This record gives sequence, structure tokens and C-alpha cells, in this order.
Amino acid sequence: MLQAAPVAEPSLAPVLLETRALSFSAGGRSLLDGMDLSVRAGSRTVILGPNGAGKSLLLRLLHGLIAPNSGQVLWCGRPLRQACPQQAMVFQRPVLLRRSVLANVRFALKARGVRRAERAARAEEALHRARLTSLARSPARVLSGGEQQRLALALALVGRPRLLLLDEPTASLDPASTYAVEQMLAEAHGAGIATLMVTHDAGQARRVGDDLIFLQAGKVAEVGPLATLLDCPRSEALRAWTEGRLMFPNGRALPF
Ligand SMILES: Nc1ncnc2c1ncn2[C@@H]1O[C@H](COP(=O)(O)OP(=O)(O)O)[C@@H](O)[C@H]1O
Ligand SMILES: [Mg+2]
Repeated sequence: MLQAAPVAEPSLAPVLLETRALSFSAGGRSLLDGMDLSVRAGSRTVILGPNGAGKSLLLRLLHGLIAPNSGQVLWCGRPLRQACPQQAMVFQRPVLLRRSVLANVRFALKARGVRRAERAARAEEALHRARLTSLARSPARVLSGGEQQRLALALALVGRPRLLLLDEPTASLDPASTYAVEQMLAEAHGAGIATLMVTHDAGQARRVGDDLIFLQAGKVAEVGPLATLLDCPRSEALRAWTEGRLMFPNGRALPF
């Protein structure tokens, strides 16, 4: 089992992660400005936006990897740093140890405080979930890109998080490998785990998302039901994005 029970009605589910007037600036530049966002238990949210809009930066702030200049990130109503948030992050490039697949899983289990007696069964479960049982003894670095990303996702899931943050996890994968990662995400969703995922692919956004956050130049340009917004964008920024028109990160259209 990945987790407790599926969340029946995500719109009524408790808020896991929340930002209040979250802002981040560096070198005198405002990179994220006044963000008020929330992620509910069991929900599937996609973050879209042009390159440089601040998507990765937002995820890093939400995961506590960097601190905001002003505003707050709250986990279940408490400041992130005091809350032991039950969340895990998956990056575009898998972060793996130069050891076997199984050793990576065992290390992740130990790091998350899983008792030694439970580790063998939990490792087997994680390998099965990633369809990597037959590659358990292989060095992680010889796996294909898709297999490495499935392993990274399995490592993120070993701590039984309630929320997964994913930053373009399939950006360098072919369609079959992308499908395998999406299958794992679907299983996680079925187990009640919320996902917040950055992607550049509108097709993928529709497959893995119910809610949309569209970022433009460090601001939330749109937030709401994903299919509705992609079909009928309200903002010029999202309309340009859905029509494949090129934009500068600041939202101005390119002159061609
Ligand atoms: N830790 C940081 N310090 C300073 N500038 C940063 C930092 N992280 C990202 N940036 C800048 O913030 C902007 C948004 O970056 P990013 O979040 O990576 O965009 P994207 O939407 O493509 O993921 C870029 O101009 C980037 O150079
Ligand atoms: Mg990015």
C-alpha cells in the first residue's frame, strides 16, 4: 500500500500546503510576487508557464529548499520549517546514489527513519511499484533515463508522503517512459497522494492534472480547473501559451 485511503472529494479535502503572500527576489529582481496558493489532500495540480516564469523556484520554495524573502509557506497550517511536512520532490534529472538500485531504495528507507525490520519488505514493494524488481542489483547509473526516473519516483514515495512535488519529471523521456512515469503517478493518486507537477506539455497536463496554476513573470496569471482554463483561457498569457505563440518571460509577445 502506498498510503491510507483515497480522498473522495478533493475540493472538500483539507489543505496540505499553502502560501501566503509568498515573494522571492534576488539581485534586486522580483522573481516571485505575492503568491497565495493552496494544495488540498489528494488533489492533482499542474503548474504551467513560459521558461523563466518561476515554476522551479516556486517548487523549491514550497519544498523548503530555499527561504522566501517575505510571505509564508505553511504545511497543514504551520510554518514549513516547524511542521515536518509529509512531502517529497522529484526533479527533472533523477538524483541517485552511485550504488545499486536496491541500495538506493534501502538508503532512502533508512534516511526516512523506516525501521530495519521493515526495510526489506518496503524495498521490495518500492521496486515492484517502479517495475524495477529485475534490475535491483544493477548499478543505478546504467539504467535508462526512464528507469532512473521511475527509481527517483519510487525513492520519493518510500516515505509515504501525502504530497509529491514534481519538476518536469518527464521532460527528457520518450513517450513510453513518460507513460510509465504517468502510470506511477496515477497509482499514487489512487492511493490518495496529492501531486503538484510542473510540465511544458499541455497533453500531459490534461492527463495528470485537475487544477491549473499558470505562472507568468513570477506572478499567478490564472488558477482554477485545468480543462476549463485550457479550453477557454481568461488571460492573454495563457491564451498565448495554448496557441503556441512565443512570449518573453515578462509576458510580451515576440515580434514574429
Ligand atoms: N536561487 C535563485 N537565485 C536567484 N535567481 C534565481 C534563483 N532561482 C531561479 N532564479 C531566477 O528566477 C527566474 C525563474 O527561474 P525558474 O524558476 O528556474 O524558471 P522556470 O519557470 O523556467 O522553472 C530565472 O530568471 C532564474 O534565473
Ligand atoms: Mg524550471
